[in-house]
Amino acid sequence: MENNPISTNALLQVQIAAKTWLADDIAGFELVPLSGDELPTFEAGAHIDVHVPGDLVRQYSLYDPAGLQSSYRIGVLRDPQSRGGSVKLVDSVHAGDVLTISTPRNHFALHSGQSDQSILFAGGIGITPILCMAQQLARAGSAFELHYCGRSLSRMAFVERLQTAHFGEESQVHVHADDGVPEQQLDARSAIGAPSSDKHLYVCGPNGFLSHILQTARELGWDEGHLHREYFGAAPIETAGDGPFEIEIHRSGEVIVVAADQSAAHALLDAGFSLPLSCEQGVCGTCRTDVLAGLPDHRDLYLTDEEQTRNDCFMPCCSRAKTSRLVLDL
Ligand code: FES
Repeated sequence: MENNPISTNALLQVQIAAKTWLADDIAGFELVPLSGDELPTFEAGAHIDVHVPGDLVRQYSLYDPAGLQSSYRIGVLRDPQSRGGSVKLVDSVHAGDVLTISTPRNHFALHSGQSDQSILFAGGIGITPILCMAQQLARAGSAFELHYCGRSLSRMAFVERLQTAHFGEESQVHVHADDGVPEQQLDARSAIGAPSSDKHLYVCGPNGFLSHILQTARELGWDEGHLHREYFGAAPIETAGDGPFEIEIHRSGEVIVVAADQSAAHALLDAGFSLPLSCEQGVCGTCRTDVLAGLPDHRDLYLTDEEQTRNDCFMPCCSRAKTSRLVLDL
């Protein structure tokens, strides 16, 4: 019998076909659909929401597009410093268990044309979307350079695989371990190099790593349009001085009050609006909403500085208002 593709924007029930250790504290999960249907295809940089036991929803990047028709693969770092989702997933989910996931979404897609040059930077578990980008670029015959940084080789997934893969003559992989010899440490300025209209930079990793790479690129004169990033999660935001503000729904004129201790997203949900939410930290872009009037107080990490300056959209999961009212295009 022919399998049918599952529609996008759906929640899927998947079974853990395999759970393996990819490195110290990093578990790999292979997810197969319960229904036997084919899974939606995805491009490099895509992630899925995983509904973790305990009513947690977390985002994980997909890798290995080769298996895209029949399974998804994610790598999960067991990080006791995180909000608890990764520890729960690694400790309590095993082969044979069933999980709910979303269909893939992609806010970190490749922008490089075939003749462009891509420079990929991964910090720690940020290697999962970056590996997928390397795989996709290699398939397309596009040149890239990959820099993979981590605390030590034992805590870095896919090192052997990256070092033995044949990505093509013009592509190179550099591994930089903090506890390795000084000669192999990352020199960000020389790795990034001078900007050019045919060069794109992609970075995924912890926030400090991202900031270092992006700031170095800006100092070297790179344009924001050629810098592409995916954050893991946001640092805690200071909310002590927050006050209430109003949201006006453009189409109906309805006014909703956002309480001082409430997010705009939750005020909208409480008022009966359906708003897609995922990370609720301003890093994934899912809740992006257009603003027609008023000034947002941007607190997300998703929009570029340029986009934030335009003030024509905001992330209601975390951002607030500098004016007493925001008019939203809803
Ligand atoms: Fe992720 Fe708002 S839900 S940015």
